[in-house]
Amino acid sequence: MTGAVPNPLTILVTGASAGIGKITCQRLAAGRHRFILAARSEDKLQAVAEELKAAGCESLVVPTDVASPAALKRLVEAAIQKFGRIDVLVNNAGIECFAPFTELTDEMIQQTIATNLTSAILLTRYVVPHMQKQGFGRIINMASIAGKHGPAYGAVYGATKAGLIALTQSLRGELIPQGIYSTAICPGFATNGGIYDDLVKATGKKASILLGGTTAERVAAAVEKAIRTAPPEKILNFPALRPVFLFRDIFPRLGERIILWTTLKFLRRAANCRKP
Ligand SMILES: NC(=O)c1ccc[n+]([C@@H]2O[C@H](COP(=O)([O-])OP(=O)(O)OC[C@H]3O[C@@H](n4cnc5c(N)ncnc54)[C@H](OP(=O)(O)O)[C@@H]3O)[C@@H](O)[C@H]2O)c1
Repeated sequence: MTGAVPNPLTILVTGASAGIGKITCQRLAAGRHRFILAARSEDKLQAVAEELKAAGCESLVVPTDVASPAALKRLVEAAIQKFGRIDVLVNNAGIECFAPFTELTDEMIQQTIATNLTSAILLTRYVVPHMQKQGFGRIINMASIAGKHGPAYGAVYGATKAGLIALTQSLRGELIPQGIYSTAICPGFATNGGIYDDLVKATGKKASILLGGTTAERVAAAVEKAIRTAPPEKILNFPALRPVFLFRDIFPRLGERIILWTTLKFLRRAANCRKP
């Protein structure tokens, strides 16, 4: 249904220098694909490129601040010049922004939206014409369960992740007839990624056992599977959260209370130790 997947694939990953992005590249390396690695830290990207080379993969390192539209244009130009195509775009770069809402600065708000959402929209806008020429494309947007229910003390982060989910749905509606499939990956708190581990370090506490979570390795495996099967959305968490969201949709007030009960303590603590 989703068309033949080229082999090898040319895969562009933002936020490839650390956490989920890096582990995703390592996972995909078994397929001997070609990679374009983007993030700000050139030395870390070079280290990932060395690992990929040892696994038999060619890669191009493009130091990029995804909050800069000009840098995103240069990234796509460099990728096309080197490989002539981009089959898979993984919009993974992201930052967290947990703080009491009224203490957020304009700069924190704008930087989070630029890094997590505007970058993905612009980069996708620049990449899709190449995918249209190819008649094949996969766009994987690294959203979060924070996009399925906005977290207390994480209003802007949640808004960017909900934006990525809506972007994914819109792109599917428009581009599937041209062979271009988008998927939103929605992890819960993921160990071995950076964001959750940093919050645990900062607070000295883990999130509620009832909320559970996932691992960066499981997220990487979900990206690999999404390239093959192209689902609209994949929620990654143990215990499963889809029934909780379904319950919340049917009983909004009670559902909201249950979600707050399992998340509020950890999120409030994270916000308070991250005060600007
Ligand atoms: N870990 C979790 O619990 C979790 C859960 C749900 C969703 N996610 C999502 O998964 C993605 C990766 O998170 P992670 O936990 O792996 O975080 P991480 O370890 O902090 O990695 C973030 C990556 O994004 C890059 N990045 C940040 N700002 C950038 C910018 N302005 N320009 C270019 N690259 C930038 C970083 O590279 P440089 O610093 O080198 O630029 C790094 O490679 C994020 O979108 C996050 O929201 C994470």
